[in-house]
Amino acid sequence: MRALAVPAPDAVSPDRLRRRVDARLAELLPRPADHRDLVCMAMRESTLAPGKRTRPLLMIIAARELGCCSQSVVDAGCAVEMVHAASLTLDDMPCMDDAELRRGRPTIHRRFGEDIAILASVALLSQAFQLVASLPGVAPAVRNRLVAELACAVGPQGLVGGQCRDLRDGSGMRDVDDIVDTNALKTGALFAAALEMAALLAEAGDDDRRHLRAAACELGQAFQLYDDLQDRRDSSCTGKDCDKDAGKSTLLSVLGAEEVRRRLHAHIDGAQAAFARVYGDDSALAGYCGRLFGVA
Ligand code: IPE
Ligand code: IPE
Ligand code: MG
Ligand code: MG
Ligand code: MG
Repeated sequence: MRALAVPAPDAVSPDRLRRRVDARLAELLPRPADHRDLVCMAMRESTLAPGKRTRPLLMIIAARELGCCSQSVVDAGCAVEMVHAASLTLDDMPCMDDAELRRGRPTIHRRFGEDIAILASVALLSQAFQLVASLPGVAPAVRNRLVAELACAVGPQGLVGGQCRDLRDGSGMRDVDDIVDTNALKTGALFAAALEMAALLAEAGDDDRRHLRAAACELGQAFQLYDDLQDRRDSSCTGKDCDKDAGKSTLLSVLGAEEVRRRLHAHIDGAQAAFARVYGDDSALAGYCGRLFGVA
């Protein structure tokens, strides 16, 4: 734990930060040149549709409480959100989860076609890497590490690897450890990269970076369990198709709701304990995470 916490700059509400992220995303995403520019339209719809912006908010709050309020953190957060949007657009496609509804709107392939959905996802990934590779005011060596972190989180040792395992193995029996590992890859890897990127930009020390990574791993697990519990809720609450996981082996189907809720709370507690090692008790980051899961 830090002996003397860096005083957090004026606390800014998550709602204000979310509006700032939304405004910056709208600036950074390419504008369609004309009505035939379907890829740019789909990139904007995929990203700007009303999501929670959890990953950029975690990054901005984590960095602020380490004393770093730089615009580069907001831009890095926007890059992570573009990667996330691409992952959702691909996840929804007929060859994957075959979803109709996302963030309360028709999924990207339903609106623009499968061809455009794939192209927009590729374009969002390349836009994200271009953004991180050219962050102004960041030393080239740090930019390299940021790019490497994000690339690793997307690739076969991260999100893509997890999605592959989920799609190919999810319809059969899986044991608990296998599902936990898959969730770590498909969901946890991007959380880990997000907090690592925030820590690098804030020039955090090795101990703080280690604790933030541990918190991100707990959050990734918690987030997927929470998402799995939400799957049984009505579309009018979640903005997504209801019961999409029916017939799939998830921790919810294998362990039941009670055990999943117990594990969810244990992961949230684990994340909060790791945050406390960096920021002390009652940090803005801990408060934000608690509200994310409705436990604060
Ligand atoms: C949904 O992510 C997919 C998972 C990783 C579980 P979010 O719940 O962050 O989706 P949005 O961005 O708020 O729509
Ligand atoms: C996918 O998990 C997580 C991603 C990496 C996109 P889900 O398939 O459960 O996510 P939702 O429920 O469609 O948002
Ligand atoms: Mg999926
Ligand atoms: Mg899905
Ligand atoms: Mg889900």
